[in-house]
Amino acid sequence: MINIAIDGPSGAGKSTIAKIVAKTMGITYLDTGAMYRAVALHVVNCGKNPSVEEEVKELLNDINISYIKEKDENLICLNGKNVSEDIRRHEMSKYASEVSKIPAVRLFLVDMQRKIAQSTDVVLDGRDITSYVLPNAKYKFYLTAKDTERAKRRYEELKAKGQEVSYEQILADVRDRDFNDMNRDFAPLKKTDDSFEIDSTEMSLQQVVDTILAKVAEIDKNSQQIKDVNMSVHKQIKKNRNKVKHRWFYRGIANFVRWAMGAIWVTKIYFKDNFPKNSKAIVICNHYSAVDPCVIISKLLGKNGKVLMKEEIENNAFVAKVAKELGTIPVKRGEADVNAVKSILGALNKNQPVLIFPEGTRNRQSQKEFLPFKPGVATFAIKAKAPIVPMLYYKKTGAFKRNKIMIGAPFWLDEFYDKKIGDVKEEATQVIFDKMQELRKEIDILVEVCKGSKKRYLKYKKNQSKELCANVGKGR
Ligand code: DC
Repeated sequence: MINIAIDGPSGAGKSTIAKIVAKTMGITYLDTGAMYRAVALHVVNCGKNPSVEEEVKELLNDINISYIKEKDENLICLNGKNVSEDIRRHEMSKYASEVSKIPAVRLFLVDMQRKIAQSTDVVLDGRDITSYVLPNAKYKFYLTAKDTERAKRRYEELKAKGQEVSYEQILADVRDRDFNDMNRDFAPLKKTDDSFEIDSTEMSLQQVVDTILAKVAEIDKNSQQIKDVNMSVHKQIKKNRNKVKHRWFYRGIANFVRWAMGAIWVTKIYFKDNFPKNSKAIVICNHYSAVDPCVIISKLLGKNGKVLMKEEIENNAFVAKVAKELGTIPVKRGEADVNAVKSILGALNKNQPVLIFPEGTRNRQSQKEFLPFKPGVATFAIKAKAPIVPMLYYKKTGAFKRNKIMIGAPFWLDEFYDKKIGDVKEEATQVIFDKMQELRKEIDILVEVCKGSKKRYLKYKKNQSKELCANVGKGR
């Protein structure tokens, strides 16, 4: 049997990497941490304390762990119920670490793990796989990374899921768990002498995967089974390298497209300073034609920004790859697209501006009236506590014409932050709509009254406010 054992502290990326390695080699992946989490979940569900040995021991006989295959994933079931999501709740990490200190729990799970490894080609990840569960495994790895980096990755993952936890709290939890896992009496986490250590702090996911695959291939060149696997592994490594190479190709094309779009759709941008280049913000804009996003990508978003586009853009593989390099986030329209939601919140958390067209589709009906706004912008702005930057095209864009965009001042929906989004998203959407209407009036003044001169517009506004003050004075 092929048994690949990977140990390491929490947050080192073991499970993501082990999953890819298993998939590449066409063998099973077993997340042993998930087993400890499932035990902890059962204990908590029964109202017992995960750190009290007697209470936990009593429950072990009632626990049945099994797996169901869904697409490429092995979902973990606790007494027949899929608990794959529940065991990932933040507090379950701490409870799992507590139950994992109890020898009876370890013996119970280690027995299951050994049985699986005896009958299946498997990649297992955990804390004691190389040292205790399968000390004779041929392929042993110790995957680690700096604790600050691990905490950062975990923080970003949780934020992208919309869970509110502070980075400091996560770092403290990571250090706490490291201490627990490395200092428990029974089968503590440690690097065995015969494990190959990989520090992933400065490595990409793909580099770690390739390192493991190459090492597996190197360790036992003579085993027929590995020879067979090697063939596909080498092919995969080559494919991955090509992927990286190709990425430069698509990036180059994306840069050219950016430049060309800027040259064809010449656009005068007013109040560019309001545009958030490197900070979290939802940029909203009216939308008349397919080139609107192109202009914004080339003129404003730069390499850091993201733009929400309909999923159909992925229908053509070449266009999809270039679009990805241009920062698009594909979204399935008319349904709750979880991946798109994750990508949007993830980008905002990484201080990237995200462009969303609040009308949801192209407005072919009017250049003076908006279509009704969709509630997405309000939802994201409240969830991520992100500012909204309104932006407006003056009429439809045209090639080789001097198009005009005005960028308004950012605003926040902070009056809704402590409310339930479902209750306020319509009201908040109306606030956004009103801001865009205001901006429409301003760009009309700028272009039609002030003939497109920013200087005249500022003078006009100054006079307008003087007049207003005088009227207020008279009124008094
Ligand atoms: O990898 P993870 O975060 O899902 O693991 C949850 C806890 O389970 C972790 O704190 C340590 C424990 N564990 C263990 O003791 N031995 C294993 N083989 C796997 C996990």
